[in-house]
Amino acid sequence: MIEELAKASVRMRDRGRVDKIIQNMQTAGPSELQVISDFDMTLTRFAHNGKRCPTTHNILHSSSLISEDCKAKMSGLLAHYYPIEIDESKSVEEKVPYMVEWWTKAHDFIVQEKIRKDQLAQAVKDSGAMLREGCKSFFDMLNQTSVPLLIFSAGVGDILEEVIRHHEVFHPNVRVFSNYMDFDENGVVHAFKGDMIHTFNKREGALLNRDQFAQLARSNVLLLGDSLGDLNMADGVQNIQNILRIGYLNDKVDERRESYVQSYDIVLEKDETLNVPNAILKYITAGK
Ligand code: TMP
Ligand code: MG
Repeated sequence: MIEELAKASVRMRDRGRVDKIIQNMQTAGPSELQVISDFDMTLTRFAHNGKRCPTTHNILHSSSLISEDCKAKMSGLLAHYYPIEIDESKSVEEKVPYMVEWWTKAHDFIVQEKIRKDQLAQAVKDSGAMLREGCKSFFDMLNQTSVPLLIFSAGVGDILEEVIRHHEVFHPNVRVFSNYMDFDENGVVHAFKGDMIHTFNKREGALLNRDQFAQLARSNVLLLGDSLGDLNMADGVQNIQNILRIGYLNDKVDERRESYVQSYDIVLEKDETLNVPNAILKYITAGK
């Protein structure tokens, strides 16, 4: 029923189940649908022309807002902790302390750089941040059909917002749940607000902030992620009838294929587009 699902880069554990969920969602229509999506490497590209694209944290790298010393330190953190984040041989429990360390150190380094809020928009413009191909249609379609989009990100919320503003897709149906910088009376960052969100505590974040999710009060959820830590992003939603989880498998594809196929309903391998989510959304919202 959806041509894009027949592509070689699309893997499904149980095609019949996927079809059934999509059919249920189509029958209920867009007024019962909400989308919960991760941001970095899910709505943004993993790579372009063979080069890695920056995460919201790493957008600061290409900017003049942080010192060379800080850039080197942040790169060092990435080189050390990213392999742990995606290591198939380690359990989530084993990874959590490393993630807490990574985020704590990264946020401390950022705070030391005395970045001003009014400098962020330009830094994002100058960076190589790229949304996936088809992302504008994705945001526009959700807005036109009044489907709420909750972006749930362990990245930096202030930078994330600038990225979607820059691409002219920060529509009124979009809400962001992320790590936000706290600025002093001079507009200079001096801390990060609230509880830190890292790759593997999104479930706790969702459960502790049920009110954020309750506002949506829709029974069908389309979930998009790229990490196994994104699977529980909808745990704060009450009374879910149908949930379809779509996972981008960007890196270490052969090693991680099996666990992704076991965890996500649809796995998209090395796919830098939103063609599959867009085709599913079109089917559900257009009632075709
Ligand atoms: P996400 O939840 O929007 O995907 O954001 C989390 C990603 O951010 C995660 O995959 C690791 C990445 N990250 C960096 O690239 N640099 C950093 O300094 C930190 C703390 C995280
Ligand atoms: Mg991600």
